[in-house]
Amino acid sequence: MNKTAAVVILGFVLTASGHGDSPGPTTGPATPAKLKPVASTGSGLLLDVPLDLSRFSRQQFEAFSSTVGPEKIRRKWTSAITPLPNPPAAGERGLTEPEVRDIMLRIRDLFDEGKSAPVSDVGLISTQEDVNRKPMYNHVAAFANSSVNAYLLVQRLAGTEGWGYFAIVQDLATEPPSDYFADINGREVKFEGQSCYKCHSSGPLALHPAREDLVSDVPLLAAINRHITEQPASRFHFPEHDRPGDYGTPLAMEACTRCHDADAPRGVLFRAHSHPIRILVDFGYMPPNRRLTPKELAELKSWLEAKP
Ligand code: HEC
Ligand code: HEC
Repeated sequence: MNKTAAVVILGFVLTASGHGDSPGPTTGPATPAKLKPVASTGSGLLLDVPLDLSRFSRQQFEAFSSTVGPEKIRRKWTSAITPLPNPPAAGERGLTEPEVRDIMLRIRDLFDEGKSAPVSDVGLISTQEDVNRKPMYNHVAAFANSSVNAYLLVQRLAGTEGWGYFAIVQDLATEPPSDYFADINGREVKFEGQSCYKCHSSGPLALHPAREDLVSDVPLLAAINRHITEQPASRFHFPEHDRPGDYGTPLAMEACTRCHDADAPRGVLFRAHSHPIRILVDFGYMPPNRRLTPKELAELKSWLEAKP
């Protein structure tokens, strides 16, 4: 019975074309603050025309998002970062993989038990371009104790079955802090390297929704983004079975290396990171406070296209 109901809801959400010209987002109290409109700047960096999401209504977003279990999301929060108990023995040596694994399973349980403060959105980077070209629904929750920052992503691509679980644990006891990445879909934690690094060049990514109203709670999104942006520079932990590839030479444009470099707050950028680079620059998020000049854009474009 329940299964049938879920299918009906999904059918409605995914065949929503007839509802496209509804007046748009509701003016509910959930989003008092506003994000600035999300729009391509027409930089020429995108490989594909920007995906038009205008047919999706806020209500459809909410309905699909809630298929994860409405009790787990859109929760009232006072702290955007859910506290974790302090670790028994991590101390100065840093965490072992089994300890990281336990933290990942714990944050997954906290989410499933409705004890975290997730923000829900449709993510820009995973929705636009050639990766999916379909709305990617995300729930992101942040956790911390004195020696760890931890993040959970619960994700589902429009038109697919079931939600996927992913985790990042940042161990603050090492110098610099180490970021562990894993697929935690089953009870088994699968540590991963290269497949995550191609978007996560500096550990956790700030959240950028695909449309300014496809987000459950703007103040919560802003608080989580502040936490992510203010984190110390960290090092990607590649597990033994998934060592780093040969990434060639890093992006050397001064417009970027002020902030993205070995001794800068964000990690170096390689051609392997071209997907998030194309999107964040094209949609006007990078560099943060200005647009690239045509000359700089041409330089970036030819670097992205050059053979390593
Ligand atoms: C195609 C690019 C891409 C790849 C590959 C990718 N991610 Fe992400 N990830 C994102 C984006 C974009 C966000 C922010 C989502 C948003 O804006 O809602 C994110 C968010 C997350 C978060 C929530 C915390 C944060 O960083 O915001 C976790 C946890 C996460 N990813 C884990 C992983 C793991 C583990 C892997 C590898 C198995 C991985 N990701 C691979 C793009 C990617
Ligand atoms: C003034 C500092 C600053 C400059 C200059 C800057 N960035 Fe960033 N960049 C950031 C910050 C802070 C974040 C994380 C917050 C966000 O994503 O909005 C970020 C995030 C990113 C990310 C996602 C991976 C990550 O580090 O979180 C990419 C890719 C990126 N920038 C590319 C670029 C490119 C390409 C340029 C040059 C055209 C550039 N940035 C210039 C500060 C900067």
